[in-house]
Amino acid sequence: MATLPIYLYGNDILKKKAKHLSEITDHDITLIQDMFETMRESNGIGLAANQVGELKQILVLDITEMEAGEGTKPLAMINPTIIDDEGEWEMEEGCLSIPDVREKVWRAEKIRVKFTDVNMNEVELDADGMLARVILHEMDHLNGVLFLDHLSSTKRTLLRAKLKRIMKGDVETSYEVVISGEPKSKTKKK
Ligand code: NI
Repeated sequence: MATLPIYLYGNDILKKKAKHLSEITDHDITLIQDMFETMRESNGIGLAANQVGELKQILVLDITEMEAGEGTKPLAMINPTIIDDEGEWEMEEGCLSIPDVREKVWRAEKIRVKFTDVNMNEVELDADGMLARVILHEMDHLNGVLFLDHLSSTKRTLLRAKLKRIMKGDVETSYEVVISGEPKSKTKKK
């Protein structure tokens, strides 16, 4: 397994829609393993393929440390779709692509999500609370949407200077990153 550099805010790939997978190749399996490794190394609880430079409808998540004993386990989802949602709640979110920015975001409280697992099985899952939130945050990534897009324009204006610094790579991370506009080969670690 390998860790992959994470694309930072400002990179176009984070605004693009990921493509539906009609089959799962060996490359995709390796990608999923690497995404798990990258997420753990960077202390993240979720990661979408866009964030590691691949426009594929794949996300991984692991909230076992936050909800120990509640039956949660690490999950990889391919082609996830929301088939039902209910309620609304607000909570602070962060994102590995937007280091040091945390803001409150409204999300559905309960969801029913359909996805393909790594064995090509169709799965339907009911999720609520934190699990639902992480799934919705990562699914947003697959649609080219960031949690910042849910904020009011006033809040976004207040974050402008900070976001500019992230775009320039002027931010400390414990993980390898790709700065906006840079080719994939040029990465930076602090
Ligand atoms: Ni994110």
